[in-house]
Amino acid sequence: MKILIVGSGGREHALAWKIAQSPRAEKVYCAPGNGGTRLVAENIPLAETDIAGLADFAERERIGLTVVGPEVPLTMGLVDEFEKRRLAVFGPSKKAAEIEASKVFAKEFMERHRIPTGRFKVADSFDQAKKILASGEFGYPVVVKADGLAAGKGVVVCPTPKKAEDTAGEMLVQKKFGAAGRRIVIEEFLRGREVSFIVVSDGLRVQPLVTAMDHKAAYDGDKGPNTGGMGAISPSPLMTEKLFNEVLATVITPAVTRLLEEGRKFKGVLYAGLMITEAGPRVLEFNGRFGDPETQPQMLRLESDLVELLMAAVEEDVLRHEVRWSPKPSGCVVVASGGYPVHYEKGKAITGLAEAQAVPGVTVFHAGTKFVNDAYLTTGGRVLGVCASENDLAGTMGKIYEACGRVYFEAMHYRRDIGAVKEERG
Ligand code: AMP
Ligand code: GLY
Repeated sequence: MKILIVGSGGREHALAWKIAQSPRAEKVYCAPGNGGTRLVAENIPLAETDIAGLADFAERERIGLTVVGPEVPLTMGLVDEFEKRRLAVFGPSKKAAEIEASKVFAKEFMERHRIPTGRFKVADSFDQAKKILASGEFGYPVVVKADGLAAGKGVVVCPTPKKAEDTAGEMLVQKKFGAAGRRIVIEEFLRGREVSFIVVSDGLRVQPLVTAMDHKAAYDGDKGPNTGGMGAISPSPLMTEKLFNEVLATVITPAVTRLLEEGRKFKGVLYAGLMITEAGPRVLEFNGRFGDPETQPQMLRLESDLVELLMAAVEEDVLRHEVRWSPKPSGCVVVASGGYPVHYEKGKAITGLAEAQAVPGVTVFHAGTKFVNDAYLTTGGRVLGVCASENDLAGTMGKIYEACGRVYFEAMHYRRDIGAVKEERG
């Protein structure tokens, strides 16, 4: 079968790498792909937002399965268009993807169905926002969130009333995020540690992936602005069997079941970003896609066939396929452009890739790279994901950091403390 992967990040390289190993994959395409996906797939110069172009390509090439990486094509209705043309596609429909595309929808959905999440109110005018903030009902810090997609930048933790009001004004009056900030969510600040809980859903049943822990802040010690993710480890050191079962029972199962009941059958990856508080797990957000960079360490641990799993979900029988995972931990360190996530330069030559890859057990996934004139150049903020999976976490991170020391491009930076977590809960 021919398989098409939509997207161009580290997540898509990891998916393409794993899919290319499947006995069912005759030929793998990636649109538009990056400098790394070309090593395991054929890159096709179609933008991830060119829904009609992608569907035409899939029809013409008789693609047997299309796998969508990023959220934007999902919320634009890629899956709806493919299904209309009877093309097999893995991902949620536009209506189901609203769980990620609208924070107001997601929060009200959770409230309706008593899925544990932080207390919140919605404001659609600056006056209303000021009233909610003046009441002080959420205390400080308070979290202000733009309703729509804002590439991870639409969530602001505000330590003071002034900062909260200014942030609400930027979103509702100055339209910093355009239509995405027409409504905002004002939410209580939750204390705890974060876990990414990710499952493959066929609309009714789910296959959980191994858990992961993302490191969102730009700099060591969780300092600096939030990014898309500077590294991840799997499993999450916070996860216990009890917590795992609690999340399945109180978050994942009700979410999938209620979405189905509300006419938004969720097929694809459901990703719950959780805060593990003293009072138990609380949902910070839902995503309707694989995580980036969580996918990179997860794919290193997946021993069974990814294509079989995704096809089982598409054919609405996700439990027919037995998923097997390596018990070994895995990790990923993101090597980023200097200045990411704010201002950074592109077009820097990357050296030492072969040397990094030569560290036994290391896999380097590309994110913001392209291959031109026999050289790799940077094209984005997150450039590489250096990954390994060894017998223990310390050994895994040691391998990864040895490889990170071998790659170079001007102004590159990476966190030195990925995986350096206290194993509080075993
Ligand atoms: P979200 O896109 O809603 O997951 O928010 C992005 C990040 O902001 C999360 O991963 C958390 O680090 C942080 N965050 C969001 N909501 C809250 C909250 N209610 N309390 C504390 N931190 C939060
Ligand atoms: N790493 C966070 C995300 O994929 O949303």
